[in-house]
Amino acid sequence: MLHTEQARAVRFDRYGGRDVLYIAEVPIPRPAAGEVLVEVRAAGINPGEIGIRTGAMHERYPGTFPSGQGSDLAGVVTAVGEDVTDLQVGDEVLGYSWRRSSHATHVVVPAEQLIHKPGGLSWAVAGALYVAACSAWAAVDAVDPRPGETVAVSAAAGGVGTITVQLLALRGVHVLGIASAANAGWLRDHGATPVPYGERLAEDLAAAAPEGIDAFIDLFGPDYLQLAVDLGIPRDRIETIISFEKAKEFGTKAVGSVEASNRKVLTEMAELVASGRIEIPIAATYPLDRVGDAFAELERRHTRGKIVLVP
Ligand SMILES: NC(=O)c1ccc[n+]([C@@H]2O[C@H](COP(=O)([O-])OP(=O)(O)OC[C@H]3O[C@@H](n4cnc5c(N)ncnc54)[C@H](OP(=O)(O)O)[C@@H]3O)[C@@H](O)[C@H]2O)c1
Repeated sequence: MLHTEQARAVRFDRYGGRDVLYIAEVPIPRPAAGEVLVEVRAAGINPGEIGIRTGAMHERYPGTFPSGQGSDLAGVVTAVGEDVTDLQVGDEVLGYSWRRSSHATHVVVPAEQLIHKPGGLSWAVAGALYVAACSAWAAVDAVDPRPGETVAVSAAAGGVGTITVQLLALRGVHVLGIASAANAGWLRDHGATPVPYGERLAEDLAAAAPEGIDAFIDLFGPDYLQLAVDLGIPRDRIETIISFEKAKEFGTKAVGSVEASNRKVLTEMAELVASGRIEIPIAATYPLDRVGDAFAELERRHTRGKIVLVP
């Protein structure tokens, strides 16, 4: 049968800057057994996609060209493959692709990588959930904080950070949120003590936690692992989702979203957000055609919460 309908998808054919990104007209993919086709309503963007596109993460995540892009997604199921019993055409879902493909109007994904979107969750928030929320869950789980403990978090107001600090606060933890002054109010309103980064950071952290810091979650880069070690925090209570080499060198933890990529964690996080116990700030939404502008904003590294494509 002649299939004339087309999908639109972000593509790039070589490593490079934002200028290598383009929108391709492609056939609407068809779900194989165990998969479903989702018409995408929202798809979050993440810093890891910059590393993959530029080649900076070549060792860990080599590019294959032409490449699609994107993991986070939320949308409506429009076709169901054989053997899929728990999702139907018309279902509103959220979840993830591991095929670099969610930045598109249509995406095929294994059914087991989707959950039903809770009512009350906006498309933008649902589409922004996966990478940030599962990373936050994994990072908090890695340091396993007890109520009353003090945990410091770097990049506390970013995509992963905003969720991490709220998860910690829900556990009764005293959270030290490391961010610029622009995010101090937001952090205070969400249960954290803001601490500005800069030359006085070590002194300011010590002043904010006179009885000591029990654990450190690094969401920004290797200097923070060095700082955590210098502060005398036990190495098995220092976690990073980004500084993998440094973590190996120091013998600290490095657990990321992959370890928490399952329906159980995704459902728990979606329910926390849908019930209002965790807020995911949406910094901006962009149409698919402006994917380059969306990444220009993310690359400034001062996003509060998430940036989302709305195809
Ligand atoms: N391993 C994994 O599974 C995994 C998953 C997700 C993300 N990651 C990685 O984790 C990192 C965080 O991701 P994200 O999505 O949260 O990033 P993001 O949203 O781009 O983070 C932005 C935040 O970084 C803060 N920031 C900027 N300069 C800073 C500094 N010098 N010190 C401390 N904070 C600073 C900003 O705060 P101000 O505006 O206040 O400056 C802003 O709120 C990225 O490197 C990403 O690649 C890894």
